Amino acid sequence: MTHKQEKRTDSSRNASDSAPSRLGRPPGERLPGPKTTSVCSRSYFVVVMVFFHVYIINVIALLLYVHYSSGQEDAKPAPPYDDGSNSDRRNPHSPRPPFKASLPRDISLPRIEGIRVGHIQKVSLVPGKVHEMRTLSLKPLLFEIPEFLSEDECRIVMQLAQLKGLMESQLMVQDGQEELAKELNLSPEEIFNLLDINQDGQLQLHEILTHSRVRDGIWLTPENLQEIYTGLNADKDGNGLLNLEEFELLSPDAFQRFLLQQGVKRSQLVRNSRHTWLYQGKGSHQVLQNIKKRVTRLTRLPTTLVDLSEPLQVVRYEEGGHYHAHHDSGPFYPETACTHTRLAANASTPFETSCRYITVLFYLNSVEGGGETAFPVADNRTFEEVSLIQNDVDLMDTRRNCDKSNLRVKPTKGKAVLWYNYLSDGRGWVGEQDEYALHGGCVVTHGTKWVANKWINIDPDYKRQARYEQLVSHQSEDEDDEDLTVNSNIHEEL
Ligand code: OGA
Ligand code: CA
Ligand code: FE2
Repeated sequence: MTHKQEKRTDSSRNASDSAPSRLGRPPGERLPGPKTTSVCSRSYFVVVMVFFHVYIINVIALLLYVHYSSGQEDAKPAPPYDDGSNSDRRNPHSPRPPFKASLPRDISLPRIEGIRVGHIQKVSLVPGKVHEMRTLSLKPLLFEIPEFLSEDECRIVMQLAQLKGLMESQLMVQDGQEELAKELNLSPEEIFNLLDINQDGQLQLHEILTHSRVRDGIWLTPENLQEIYTGLNADKDGNGLLNLEEFELLSPDAFQRFLLQQGVKRSQLVRNSRHTWLYQGKGSHQVLQNIKKRVTRLTRLPTTLVDLSEPLQVVRYEEGGHYHAHHDSGPFYPETACTHTRLAANASTPFETSCRYITVLFYLNSVEGGGETAFPVADNRTFEEVSLIQNDVDLMDTRRNCDKSNLRVKPTKGKAVLWYNYLSDGRGWVGEQDEYALHGGCVVTHGTKWVANKWINIDPDYKRQARYEQLVSHQSEDEDDEDLTVNSNIHEEL
């Protein structure tokens, strides 16, 4: 047996021969080698070819399917914005009705693409000049455009503002706020529990700061607070924390009274600047109208939306001036009204915000020292409100902590920065507030600083925006009609 096997193995030089022998077939039953090879190869070839053809046909069918279905997608118009009732829930195989581009409900707000930080796109905003727009961050979607305004334009805007007169941006704390504290119908324990964010029975410095910042416009630093504790002998064990007993010994307006006694300085306010508003409509200075047109081209928004927005705000910071970090526009809930469309709203609403979809901030002069615009959490991986004050470092404090901001923009004469305060709703309209759009003006260490804000107001409630536009349409009927199709071609990749 061993011998036979050895013999057979010796005479078998190829794999097809050795296979039957391993199966133990008797040698006599074996078919001649060449014939076996021929039959097996043919059937093998047939099977392989059948599979190969089926495979090729499948691939072709798949490619055809992908081609035709994406072709349909391409032809699909941008989803028209409405109240949501018109969203595309049709059977995908049913024929689509023809797209009516002229319907006003089919407005889809263009949004400038950021691509990536550092990306530069060329924009044509004025005849004979090409501007370069650089992406500074994606969260928020933020761009800078050097030389957006000419030197003359900067000068004229500052002069017009001076001619009109600037007022204090934030009034000093009024005595009337003491009354407010008395009206507060809450027990000290209830107040304590509201302030104690982490509910550990102690008031940490940041818990008091978060509350005080919001409540009365005075910007308290951890050191201020320690001073107040010492002055009032509030923190008896000196551990920087207030327990309920310590808190109850304080009168409701103790902090307020202590600050007023000390004298509140302008530098302690949220905002230390002066400002005025310049109307940009018909009959206004040509420079102001030109700036508005340029902003319309830059944003590619319909002219009416820009025309119906707030006037230009011109701000002047003296040396030592600042604006702590803030949002230009608040969050939007179903119960929120926009200031600009409030008259068009049917019901009274508990909340109101300015609905500033876009901020365009212009630097009217180059500042000698400080005065950068800081974006503390730009392009942060995450956003958590509580982490804005950590280890008693308050990232929103632009007098002290601008150097810890993720992004700072240097104020250079003529430069504009543009950012979106709201995300897109994914259907071509305004969506949720972009929390990353938090920003502030760093303290001016040398010289003065002049900026201007152009805010573009859009109601996230499309119907309300449309109603408002209808209401005021007679005012803007014969304004020059800049064609959107012209606007759509001005952003060009570098
Ligand atoms: C503002 C503002 C920033 C700055 O006026 O709302 O954020 O750098 N200004 O002055
Ligand atoms: Ca606590
Ligand atoms: Fe701002």
